[in-house]
Formats: sequence, structure tokens, C-alpha cells
Amino acid sequence: MRFFIDTANLEEIRQAKEYGLIDGVTTNPTLLSREGGDWRDQMRAICEEVDGPVSLEVVSSNAGGMVEEAKELVKYGSNVVIKIPMLMEGMKAVRQLSEMGVKTNVTVAFSPAQALLAAKAGATYISLFIGRLDGLSQRGMDVVEQIVTIYDNYGFETEVLVASVRHPMHIIEAALAGADVATIPYRVLFQLAEHPMTDLGIKQFDEDWEKAFGERG
Ligand code: G3P
Repeated sequence: MRFFIDTANLEEIRQAKEYGLIDGVTTNPTLLSREGGDWRDQMRAICEEVDGPVSLEVVSSNAGGMVEEAKELVKYGSNVVIKIPMLMEGMKAVRQLSEMGVKTNVTVAFSPAQALLAAKAGATYISLFIGRLDGLSQRGMDVVEQIVTIYDNYGFETEVLVASVRHPMHIIEAALAGADVATIPYRVLFQLAEHPMTDLGIKQFDEDWEKAFGERG
């Protein structure tokens, strides 16, 4: 399972990179709006910082505009993946871009029907916003499980990307469901490492060592 980091913040990306656990980055218009400055410079800097795939989203609502935007965005790096909103116009753009050899990530998706369309259109990734579904009292992970089954049934190569992650259980359940990628907020990446028994166990080891041998190195 690959981990992407869901942020447009360079500092978070640099720090997460140091742990060697991050395979790529996803951004979106909201995340970029929080960074201020020139969004083009920010996108370019992220693509330079990261070796793996970086999802950059288009903001047009028609296929022609999306494709024109994509042609500019791919210039930011060979690792650019074009994020396309889950619209019928978006499906048209995904088909055109995939025929041009451009990788795509269909985003703001919530249903197996949408995922089926995205796969038919030739999307590289489908981004399921599971946290937002949970927020509506609909179990987001059910949708992920259904999509994994549908893609397996027909051998679709579109990768299932679990997005809108709120807590570590989302990552565990996504892994159990066989999702290909989880895009993780910086805070949740660190939560994955946490366990009170780990803290207690390490504390005990440290105390015993210090009692017997003095200061630790
Ligand atoms: O990157 C897209 C997705 O992860 C957005 O998540 O937190 O805005 O629901 P959120």
C-alpha cells in the first residue's frame, strides 16, 4: 500500500519525506488556497521536492478547459498527475488525457458508479472522499470495498485511492479492503505510530537501563 501525503504545505512535505514513508503528494484547490502566494510557484516547488506522483487539480468545468489546464500543469514536472473533478465533462477530459499519456486522478468521488465511470474513462487513480461520507452517517469504507471488488471483477487498472482520511482506522480499513493508496494528512501520519502501550514499554526500558547502567547515550 502506498502512502501519499495530503497537503500543499512544503514544510509538511519536507518533514514527512525525512521519515521515508511517503510515496507521493495530493493537493487540491482548498489546500493550495491555505498556502497563499503564487499557486504556480507552489505547485512547481512541490513537484521539485517530491520524486513520486504529485496530484495537481484543474479548476475548469468543461473538458476543453481541463485539458488546456492539464497541458500547462504537466510542465511542472514529469511526476505530475492531473486531478480531474468527477463530472461527465471530466470523464471526457480523462479519456483525452489518457490517450495523450497523461496520468489522471478523478477526484471528489463518493460512489461505486462514479468509480466505474472513471475506470472506463481510463483514469490512473480514483479518489474516494471517505471521511466526508462518514460525516453524513454513511460508512465510507463500504464504498471502497465495493470499488475494489468491481475493479477486481473486470481487471480495471485504475488504482483505488482513499482520501479525506480523518484518523488511523481509515488507513487500517483501507488496507484491509485492498485499496492501492491512502492519502494521509500530516497529523494522521504521526497518529499511525502512536500506542500508549508502546510509550509505557519504552519508558520502562529506559528507567531499567538508567537504574542499572546510568545515563543512556
Ligand atoms: O485531497 C482530497 C481530500 O483528501 C480532501 O479531504 O479533508 O477536505 O475531506 P477533506
